[in-house]
Amino acid sequence: MTNSLRSHFPAFDGGFSFLDSAAGAQVPKRCIDAISRYLTNASCNVGMPYAGSQAASAVKDQTRQGTAEFMNCAPSEVIIGTSATPLNFQLARAFSRMWGVGDEIIISELEHEANASPWRDLERVGVTVKIWRGQFPHGELRLEDLRELVNKNTRLVAVTSASNALGSMPDVAGAAAIAKSVGAWTITDMVHYSPHHLPDVRALEVDFAVFSSYKVFSTHAAFMYVREGLLPQLPTDKLHFIPDDSPLKLEPGTNNYEGLAGWLGTLEYLRHDVGDGSSGRAGLVSAYQRIEQIEHELTEFGLELLRDVPGLELYGQPSSAGRVGTFCFNLAGQDPMQIASRLGASGVGVAAGHYYATMPMAALGVSGAVRASILHYSEKADLERLVGGLRD
Ligand SMILES: Cc1ncc(COP(=O)(O)O)c(C=O)c1O
Repeated sequence: MTNSLRSHFPAFDGGFSFLDSAAGAQVPKRCIDAISRYLTNASCNVGMPYAGSQAASAVKDQTRQGTAEFMNCAPSEVIIGTSATPLNFQLARAFSRMWGVGDEIIISELEHEANASPWRDLERVGVTVKIWRGQFPHGELRLEDLRELVNKNTRLVAVTSASNALGSMPDVAGAAAIAKSVGAWTITDMVHYSPHHLPDVRALEVDFAVFSSYKVFSTHAAFMYVREGLLPQLPTDKLHFIPDDSPLKLEPGTNNYEGLAGWLGTLEYLRHDVGDGSSGRAGLVSAYQRIEQIEHELTEFGLELLRDVPGLELYGQPSSAGRVGTFCFNLAGQDPMQIASRLGASGVGVAAGHYYATMPMAALGVSGAVRASILHYSEKADLERLVGGLRD
């Protein structure tokens, strides 16, 4: 199967089999052109009454609007940041001024450390940290286990929308409902989820969510959803004149406007090249319907191929239900990094190690594993090359 959408991605012109999209995706031409257009016209800062500055202001405003359509929230609920990890650390700093001895937070065992270490750091101010244990090797989280952990002292539940190691997708809406029943907030990490499925923070009824645009076929930026009404309660680090209800209070410093222009270009790719050309969220919904269809077929195909590789132990869900196409595995008696190096030399890019998902690796009882991850621009031939390399 050749993938017609792949032609929008110049990085594939060299014939490289890229199966490390979980670490960061390739970008379409519309993204590259938007960056180039922005920088060619002018590179200015926001807020001043001349054309170049107005262009920067427009990019920032359109980014807040476009990202709100992407997450399904209001523009005033969108925080623009550089990367998901520092956004979470910033939020944790605010929490450290609100909570202390007697307060509890719950972190799922499936988390990337970006959605664990910032909250774990709250132990410094006396907060108790509990781990919501998962079921391994499939990487499931049971809501009944979360129910056992929450109580009237619970302040926050941190749970991923999709594991960057195992690809499994927990029931975030169910977790958020349990958290809400005891008055706690929920933050979900949508970094690994958002290239595969369109985020919908309203449907999940979470309080905070974060994703990184460089995983969504775009530039290095990240965005945080903060539910309306929460910003004024958060004692964040901020410049003293910034109003307490402004998203700017979690946006210290200057943005990478060319990167944001690129993100707007990617949203146009999604609406017009992948989707049906509708404006707003509707175009993104249609794009992701197509993405899900493509990925479903690729995920089934990948699982089928990997199942037949002698000595291969696959972690995560054995079928395509409840997971994305992120394949994590080890080969009996072989070092994961050596496997990745061998594949890399043959033109197949995969990851090896723990990819900052240290809790899932510990739960699996391994120090690392190989990870091959597909996105909608991947092809069956990439997976065939992978499996051919594994058999060598
Ligand atoms: C699931 C998940 N969460 C968080 C992060 C960290 O994101 P960032 O690099 O934007 O800080 C990653 C990065 O790989 C990730 O895969």
